[in-house]
Amino acid sequence: MKNILPRKPRLLLYGLACFLPRASSRQTTTSNATLACNQAQSILGDSTVQTPSDSDYAGASTAPWNLFNTQFKPACVVLPRNNTDVQVAMRSIFQFDVDYAVQAGGHSAMKGWNNVNNGVLISFERMDNISYDAAKDTITFEPAIRWGEIVATLESQGVAPVGGRIDDVGTGLLLGGGLSFLSPAHGFAADNYVELDIVLVDGTLVTATETNNYSDLFRALKGGANRFGIYPNSSFDAVAQAVFHYVRDVEDPNAALLLYFGALVLPDGTLTSFSIANMFYNGNSLPNSTYGELLSIPSISQSLGPLSWPELVASMAEPQPANGHGQLFGASVLAAGEDHDDLSFIDIVHKWQNFTFTFQSQINSTVLAFTPVPVSQITVGKERGGNAIDPPLIPYSAIQFQLTLPLGVPTISSEMEEGRQLFFQEAPRSPGFPLYMNECDVKQSVFETYGQYEFLKQTYMKYDPTRFNVRHTNGPQGL
Ligand SMILES: *[C@@H]1O[C@H](CO)[C@@H](O)[C@H](O)[C@H]1NC(C)=O
Ligand SMILES: *[C@@H]1O[C@H](CO)[C@@H](O)[C@H](O)[C@H]1NC(C)=O
Ligand SMILES: *[C@@H]1O[C@H](CO)[C@@H](O)[C@H](O)[C@H]1NC(C)=O
Ligand SMILES: *[C@@H]1O[C@H](CO)[C@@H](O)[C@H](O)[C@H]1NC(C)=O
Ligand SMILES: *[C@@H]1O[C@H](CO)[C@@H](O)[C@H](O)[C@H]1NC(C)=O
Ligand SMILES: *[C@@H]1O[C@H](CO)[C@@H](O)[C@H](O)[C@H]1NC(C)=O
Ligand SMILES: *[C@@H]1O[C@H](CO)[C@@H](O)[C@H](O)[C@H]1NC(C)=O
Ligand SMILES: *[C@@H]1O[C@H](CO)[C@@H](O)[C@H](O)[C@H]1NC(C)=O
Repeated sequence: MKNILPRKPRLLLYGLACFLPRASSRQTTTSNATLACNQAQSILGDSTVQTPSDSDYAGASTAPWNLFNTQFKPACVVLPRNNTDVQVAMRSIFQFDVDYAVQAGGHSAMKGWNNVNNGVLISFERMDNISYDAAKDTITFEPAIRWGEIVATLESQGVAPVGGRIDDVGTGLLLGGGLSFLSPAHGFAADNYVELDIVLVDGTLVTATETNNYSDLFRALKGGANRFGIYPNSSFDAVAQAVFHYVRDVEDPNAALLLYFGALVLPDGTLTSFSIANMFYNGNSLPNSTYGELLSIPSISQSLGPLSWPELVASMAEPQPANGHGQLFGASVLAAGEDHDDLSFIDIVHKWQNFTFTFQSQINSTVLAFTPVPVSQITVGKERGGNAIDPPLIPYSAIQFQLTLPLGVPTISSEMEEGRQLFFQEAPRSPGFPLYMNECDVKQSVFETYGQYEFLKQTYMKYDPTRFNVRHTNGPQGL
């Protein structure tokens, strides 16, 4: 193990994005989709536009991490090599009025967000370049690269990017805001953008920065040593209380926490549950004032020590189930200001336990994860021109409820789906605080919880006045 602590993160320069999607499953007539595919193919060629009989079609359409998103059958898959190819594809999609989906890392648990039936799938798998400019202290990268590769590539330059926490996650993370272990000091990952290349729905390529003509688009697209201790179930209430105290009291921007409660079905069918605290501190020692309460709770095992940034990201790969499972996310948010108490933190853990216990015969595993968002993180975003999320200046925790189905099961029973929706209705949630996009369920109206909802709606109307994207691609609702 190398005795290196994470170093100063550098600014990010991010490749490419299509604008703000939404959910709804609608049919496009196969003929128009075929026309769009044929037109794109006549310009881009057979190797870039793959139809179901071509060799790279299956790989791209079944690439997503989430089994649900491997069940779609696009009319064709476009595999662009550069922005020009993306523009050509988007122009055809727009002209023939067809459904489409965009896939970068493909790690989303939102069903239908990165694949489509009878429409055009733009898969970025051939666009994974990355470079670092030491003079400008910026990273330039294309959408298909994953955070594990970015971190590994930049380690030799002594750069720790503010990006994903799990190595398999891709660059789409940024569009939802992005929670990093470096976020308390450096803001949401998206707060570190310098410049964005964006292909609008009609195929126009624009470059957006904080100060140019597309500054509104730039802001709207921002929303969008590691330590372990494993806690036995009997002390879950104490852990929930310690998380609340952490969120309320810790102001040190060098400290970050990802604490999750997990439950697994064992091979003999019994349920086991546990809690893991990933305590990240960017410094030479772990301050007792920050982590003392968590560390004083009896734990089965602890691993405390210095890690390099790549070692940290690699260590986060482990709890993540591999491809081939149906995945469903959902979010809540709990504030921990002076007026709040720890009861809602304890209550949501109990509701997660109840769900897991009720549906244990139909699941592989569940997770309830807490990510504190300190005031320092919110302030960084405001100083860098603001983002769409724009939370109140009160500390809160993003909360993710993850459901993993057994291997190879591509459907969820209606009773378990009802139980999941009941969880979202009844689990405590602080009004006025934003849900974290990348951890939400398709039915949760995330944009409505943003501080800049009105701004986001206006910006969306400006850049997509015919609401093309909302009508033709799946994703979050509310614009
Ligand atoms: C990606 O990198 C390769 C090799 O360095 C280069 O040939 C190609 O032009 C780059 N693509 C883009 C879009 O910059
Ligand atoms: C984009 O890539 C295509 C090959 O897919 C190539 O023919 C074209 O010249 C490239 N355009 C630019 C601007 O690099
Ligand atoms: C098919 O595309 C044409 C434009 O090329 C459009 O006028 C027509 O409405 C589309 N059909 C459907 C069913 O969307
Ligand atoms: C940007 O806006 C300025 C005036 O606000 C205008 O003169 C200029 O042409 C615009 N540039 C682009 C690329 O639209
Ligand atoms: C975990 O603790 C809860 C109470 O907090 C209890 O209801 C449940 O049975 C426990 N589960 C296990 C596996 O010990
Ligand atoms: C560390 O913090 C815990 C909880 O706040 C406290 O009980 C303990 O006494 C502290 N230890 C030291 C060495 O200060
Ligand atoms: C849960 O998923 C993991 C990872 O794919 C697998 O190893 C394990 O056997 C699964 N357990 C059950 C009960 O499905
Ligand atoms: C536990 O979950 C079941 C299934 O969703 C639900 O019917 C029941 O009301 C829940 N109980 C509590 C106490 O939340």
